[in-house]
Amino acid sequence: MAKETMGAVILAAGEGTRMKISLAKPLIPLAGRRLVDFPIQEISRFFKEEKIKGDIFVVTGHQKEAVEEYLKEEFTGKISLNFIHQIKQLGTADALKSYFNQDKSAKNREFTLVICADTPMIQKTDLDFLYRELKKYKKDAVAATFNALNPSFYGRIIRGDSDGFHIVEYKDADAKIRQISEVNSGLYIFKTKFILDYLNRVDKNNKAGEFYLTDLFKDDLNVKAVLFNNPETFLGINTLLELDRVEDCFRRRKTKQLLDEGVRFLSFRHTYLQYDVKIGAGSCIHPNVFIEGDSKIGENVVIETGVVIKNCIIEEGAKIFAYSYLESSIVRKNALIGPFARLRPEVDVGSGAKVGNFVEVKKAVLEKEVKVSHLSYVGDAHIGEKSNIGCGFITCNYDGVRKHQTKVGKESFVGSDSQAIAPVTIGDRCYIASGSTINKDMPDDSFAIARSLQVTKKGLAKRFLKAKKSSK
Ligand code: UD1
Ligand code: MG
Repeated sequence: MAKETMGAVILAAGEGTRMKISLAKPLIPLAGRRLVDFPIQEISRFFKEEKIKGDIFVVTGHQKEAVEEYLKEEFTGKISLNFIHQIKQLGTADALKSYFNQDKSAKNREFTLVICADTPMIQKTDLDFLYRELKKYKKDAVAATFNALNPSFYGRIIRGDSDGFHIVEYKDADAKIRQISEVNSGLYIFKTKFILDYLNRVDKNNKAGEFYLTDLFKDDLNVKAVLFNNPETFLGINTLLELDRVEDCFRRRKTKQLLDEGVRFLSFRHTYLQYDVKIGAGSCIHPNVFIEGDSKIGENVVIETGVVIKNCIIEEGAKIFAYSYLESSIVRKNALIGPFARLRPEVDVGSGAKVGNFVEVKKAVLEKEVKVSHLSYVGDAHIGEKSNIGCGFITCNYDGVRKHQTKVGKESFVGSDSQAIAPVTIGDRCYIASGSTINKDMPDDSFAIARSLQVTKKGLAKRFLKAKKSSK
């Protein structure tokens, strides 16, 4: 059987004036992604999993260059996108018209799906359901609707005697119509022929003076308003307040899904997880934790309060103690980080290793069971397994122009308050006495002490203590 063909048109050309910010609305960050990413991803899954021969079009206009540049960078090689340019933002029907005018194959695709770029909670399952309804009831067009708790500026659904309906936009609605709580979500699936028959009839005789896509629906046409019962799914973003509400709903959706998979949250309302984050079963996340980007947390990991994790891999059994800040790093099995530790990008903490309080690590490998327990800076370094780095160790990696490497072999002991002036290599099983400044390589099994000799003078302290008293 030949595959069904569908054009999916994402409307993203509008000015988004109600947001009151200069960034184009499709590019506004939400849960670690941009608003426009969400419909693209869900439509792509819908086409793939339902085996539809589909093409995705994004209609751009306002800040076209910025939106297209972002989309090309983000999706090239992953999801194939086509761009349509709406020259003037004359309304949602005009945006759809631009697609039919500019894409030669548009009218030959059997179905056309239209979605707004500002409704990011819509999922593939919602697209499935709407498409099935179109087919089941043999309709020419279906619109997804929902009962809004606060219908505010949404278009109101006016149902006719049979399936037919029409939509009255907020600006054009009188007080009685504004009372209606069933509203238009901005998601529609059409038989393409229906659009070709009626799109040119849409006029701009309304308060906004715009060509409304919603005017395609009429009481006497073969159309259906499909009522969905989860209103959160269709929340649109037109103001910063609505963005805040969606961010909240999104967070609840993400944490609920993870709760179902066996992740424990001490307070899921106060846990901030971005879209791509993965967490394994048995892990426990304390309140006020931010996990961002493409982070993957394994099973049975504990993450205490105040921790920020960006683009990290945290393996099974690791513990990240309170107020630690981790970026683009790997923490291997059963390692311990923090409290108050900082992993800057490109750190690999080996299994069972420890990075303790007030330790900063950058671009460094700590092999398994290495301990850097207190107050140290380890940058551009490689530390061999089971070495113990004492309190207050510093890799002096920067000469003011370039960065240099410090290497410490395995099972070495670095005494407290020592520095390694890089580049320098310390061998296996070395021992560095406390307070040493090491600037020469050390062979395996060697001992180094590099500090000035202590001078002790019996009884001399009194003189200084007396001087201190008399100066008061
Ligand atoms: C629209 C619907 C409304 C629905 C609501 C759901 C219309 C006329 N109204 O209203 O019934 O309840 O969505 O969220 O369709 N856009 C363009 N070109 C334009 C104008 C808009 O591409 O000329 C794009 C915008 O970028 C946006 C989408 O279309 O992504 C919807 O536009 P918006 O101004 O947000 O419409 P709403 O007032 O939300
Ligand atoms: Mg909108």
